[in-house]
Amino acid sequence: MHYQDYLQLDKILNAQSPESEKQNLPAHDEMLFIIIHQAYELWFKQLHHEIDSVLLIMKKPAVNDNSPELQTVVHRVSRMITILRVLVHQLDILETMTPMDFLDFRNMLRPASGFQSWQFKELEAKLGLKFRDRYGQEYYISKLRPQQVEIIKRAEAERSLLELLNDWLERMPLAPSFKKEEKESFWYDYRRRYQNSLADVEKENLAAFDETFFERDNQKHSLSPTASRAALFIMLYRGYPLLQLPFQLLNGLLEIDEQLSSWRYRHMNMVHRMIGTRIGTGGSSGKDYLKAAADKHYIFKEIAQLNSFLIERRALPSLPSSLEKKLGFVAS
Ligand code: HEM
Repeated sequence: MHYQDYLQLDKILNAQSPESEKQNLPAHDEMLFIIIHQAYELWFKQLHHEIDSVLLIMKKPAVNDNSPELQTVVHRVSRMITILRVLVHQLDILETMTPMDFLDFRNMLRPASGFQSWQFKELEAKLGLKFRDRYGQEYYISKLRPQQVEIIKRAEAERSLLELLNDWLERMPLAPSFKKEEKESFWYDYRRRYQNSLADVEKENLAAFDETFFERDNQKHSLSPTASRAALFIMLYRGYPLLQLPFQLLNGLLEIDEQLSSWRYRHMNMVHRMIGTRIGTGGSSGKDYLKAAADKHYIFKEIAQLNSFLIERRALPSLPSSLEKKLGFVAS
């Protein structure tokens, strides 16, 4: 096996055809522009490779906690985060191109735009961004080819990572249960402690607490009350061995959202710096469109929202010793 054949370098290294060369209007930076986009698409492909394997594990009727499965999920989510960090920083290289350098070839690529990256939109859908939550619903697939639209629609129809997370949290065996009539249960005790922790101006948070953990309508939310209670329990008692990996998973998903959002904001600022307030090559309002999409497209916001319901560690209800044992390394 030769390096060239293994990596199919003949294909990759011959896949850059600057429009400026074809039109005999030299624009030095077009090569950089093409290679950066290609590098992004390759990393998007790797992100799909990782998330597909994570979805496969999470789709099982029960993730085996007594096997390496959850560790594999956490490990791959953390690899995705590392890739996303690189993707944020990769914009540094593109920003060595000045607006005037860009103008040398910008009109030649119209109406192509990163907006047509179906891999990016498919990734958002696999993570859990639903059509109902998209900004600019009529616009977001309008510039794609029919087979690309189909790929995204298929991803939207499948259970996303966020939905599978909800199912997994709902199945979580050790989180204290909740019954309305059991006023002395863990969750009523926690609610009282939470209420005591609120400042006067925060008193209405209690209604949000009840809504989130006891009452809410599953149709409108990604996390059910049962799943929200399990997630909060993991966050509160994450020091116990059995809850460490579940906590890392929740934390990892918040990190994915944060990195994606960092990318969106950096991309938006770069766009502003590069083209000011002119419209994008894909025909959107440019910076304003990107800002609205960045604000709306947080995928794991309901997990982040749970952090409003934490109380200080020293005020936590202590757990029954039978449960403490089960959450330890030796479940005897
Ligand atoms: C000079 C550099 C760039 C400029 C001026 C630029 C400009 C824009 C603009 C204006 C949009 C909104 C759609 C439109 O009207 O075209 C957009 C969307 C997008 N661009 Fe870029 N872009 C640049 C580089 C990149 C790079 C390197 C990537 C990497 C793949 C990228 C990926 C995307 C994606 C994924 C969207 C859709 C975002 C969303 O819908 O939330 N762009 N870009």
